[in-house]
Amino acid sequence: MAKTAPASLGLTDALPRHVGIIMDGNGRWAKARSLPRPMGHRAGMERLRGLIQLSSDIGIGALSLYAFSTENWKRPQSEIEALFGLFIEYFNRELDALHEGGVCIRVLGDMEAFPANIGRAISAAQSKTANNEGLKLNIALNYGSRAEVLRAANALIARGQPAAMEDLMAALYTGGLPDLDLVIRTGGEQRLSNFLLLQAAYAELMFVPEYFPDFSDARFVECLRAFGARNRRFGDVE
Ligand code: IPE
Ligand code: IPE
Ligand code: MG
Repeated sequence: MAKTAPASLGLTDALPRHVGIIMDGNGRWAKARSLPRPMGHRAGMERLRGLIQLSSDIGIGALSLYAFSTENWKRPQSEIEALFGLFIEYFNRELDALHEGGVCIRVLGDMEAFPANIGRAISAAQSKTANNEGLKLNIALNYGSRAEVLRAANALIARGQPAAMEDLMAALYTGGLPDLDLVIRTGGEQRLSNFLLLQAAYAELMFVPEYFPDFSDARFVECLRAFGARNRRFGDVE
C-alpha cells in the first residue's frame, strides 16, 4: 500500500512499475565546486535516501540504480577505492532503515570482483531484506548489460536445451521483476552506457540536465508526471 497517494503529488496517470536511474554527473558536480570527485559521489549518495523514500511512499514497484559499471574499472584506483568506501558506508548506514521500510535489496552485477568486505555487506543486506514486500531496490554494481547477457546465455546453454524468451529474461540479474517502464539519466548525456539494455527494450527514456546530486525529489516527480503523459504503443497501433 502506498503511504502517499500519488494524486497528492499531481501523479494522476499510471505510475511506472519499474524505474531505472543512471546516476551520472557526480564528478562534474564536484568539479563545478572545485571539490575532488569523491565528494561528488558522496553528495550523490546523500540523494538516495529521498529518492528511495519517495519511490517507496508512492508505491513504485521496483527502482534500479546504476552505481558502478563494468566499464568504471577504467577509472583511477583512488576513485574506485573512494566509491567502494561509499558503498560500504551506505549499506552500514542505511540497511536498518531500508529494512524497516520494507525495502527488498538486490544487487545486480558480478560480486566476485569486489573486495570481500563489500561482498559481505551486500550478502547481509540481501539476506536481511529478502522477504520484504515493499519497494524492490536494485543496485547495479559491477554491472554491464553485455556481461549479464553473456552470463545468462552460458547458464541457458549449460541446461542443454533450447531456451524460450521467458527463460532468457528469467536468467538475467533482474529475473522475476517487470521490464523497465522508465529510465532516467541525470547529467545531460543521452546514452544508456550498458545499463539494462534488454530490460529497457520498451522503456520510456528521459535525459535530464541536472547532475545527480542536484536531482531533487521534485524533479523526480516531474519525470514521473511526464511518463504518465507518454503514449506507449509497444509496436501496436494507438
Ligand atoms: C556517476 O557519476 C557515478 C559513477 C559512474 C560511479 P560520474 O562519476 O560519471 O560523474 P561525471 O559523469 O564524471 O560527471
Ligand atoms: C554510467 O555513467 C555508469 C553509472 C552511472 C554508474 P558513466 O559516467 O560511467 O558513463 P559514460 O562513461 O559517460 O558513458
Ligand atoms: Mg559519468
